[in-house]
Amino acid sequence: MRAVDIISKKRDKQELSLAEIEFFIKSFISGEVADYQASALLMAIVLNGMTPRETTDLTLAMANSGHMLDLSDVVDLAVDKHSSGGVGDKTSLAVLPIVAACGLPVGKMSGRGLGFSGGTLDKLESIPGYRCDLTTEEFKHQLKEKGIVLTGQSLDLAPADGKLYALRDVTGTVQSIPLIASSIMCKKLAAGAQAILLDVKTGLGAFMETLEEARQLADRMVDIGQLAGRKVVALLSDMNQPLGNAVGNSLEVVEAIETLQDNGPQDFLEHCLHVSAHMLVLGKRAQDLSEARTMAEKSIADGSAFEKFRVLVEAQGGDISYVDDPSRFPRAEYVEVVKSPRGGYLAQVQARTVGEAAVVLGAGRARKSDPVDHAVGFLIHRKVGDQVEKGGPLFTIHANSKETLASAREAVLSAHVFSENPVERLPLFYE
Ligand code: URA
Repeated sequence: MRAVDIISKKRDKQELSLAEIEFFIKSFISGEVADYQASALLMAIVLNGMTPRETTDLTLAMANSGHMLDLSDVVDLAVDKHSSGGVGDKTSLAVLPIVAACGLPVGKMSGRGLGFSGGTLDKLESIPGYRCDLTTEEFKHQLKEKGIVLTGQSLDLAPADGKLYALRDVTGTVQSIPLIASSIMCKKLAAGAQAILLDVKTGLGAFMETLEEARQLADRMVDIGQLAGRKVVALLSDMNQPLGNAVGNSLEVVEAIETLQDNGPQDFLEHCLHVSAHMLVLGKRAQDLSEARTMAEKSIADGSAFEKFRVLVEAQGGDISYVDDPSRFPRAEYVEVVKSPRGGYLAQVQARTVGEAAVVLGAGRARKSDPVDHAVGFLIHRKVGDQVEKGGPLFTIHANSKETLASAREAVLSAHVFSENPVERLPLFYE
């Protein structure tokens, strides 16, 4: 078998066999298939798609490319969550401590930024010392002892996804239902999850812009999970405008901390409570969503969720003084409040434009090897449906160069669309 023939077959819109998919993934991991060949196959998949069977085979080949974790000696029921990616999506930073504080141990392996969408690992690494490279043994030990883990994909778990993910980020090959579904599900299967909550984003700042596409992605992932014998719930949530107010690594960590201290933006809090409630039901810690939600609310009100976040950061070597005093996070050199050029109602705050502008500021990567700047980003002060006054604060930019500050100002201003008439607020969840 030759990689070039497999690439050509997909280029010609033909269905790949299980043997071909397994060969390609194995050879990519061993280095026999080069990055440029993998990139070519990825682009062919983006353009020509994959059948449900090919997607499931790709998912299992990627999951089997490394070690398959068995958590049965550590937790009675391993529950995991994953978001399909968005702008300002810091949900894991708040949801994991909430559910762990409610007595459901959770260990999650997260990813880095992908295109315009931020990544949990990049956010966490803004806390000095925080380790995202736990070994499998460390992962299991911490899950058992502390009931919470939030780390990167360890090198021996689904390594094929780790390598493909980094290529996709910089080759314009993110937007594809089979690639996103297999990337997310192979990690969940390899990480030993028995029950999985999928937060599938839809809208202008999601990889799936329409509700129909998001539904297809959700269905594909639920099918893969069920075929593999896992219980899967998918929520379709809004990503037309950024979630919460903060976009950018340390700014989002601070917002997650504030939310755990019951002082965060209402939309983000509500989103986290809903996701947490589903996880608590999946993890059999609550009988129904209403009981689960009450538990989640209580964990914030009594401080136990915030305390779990402290436990997490400390266990992974992070400097806890930043959590206790977020003003310690380095501030970007230029902080500018941008005022509204007109009055009216906000009809759109286009999340993708905001996410792309954050990448230009340095919060994400243009090339695989680029470092990220943890301090830069935005605070969005107004949401769709809000009434704004001319000259009132619209958003704040945190930048580390005058050039990126100017381009971010222009881009994010253009992301704000005004209406003279009242505009309905966007729902947080669609289905
Ligand atoms: N999250 C992932 O893990 N993979 C994707 O492809 C998109 C979002």
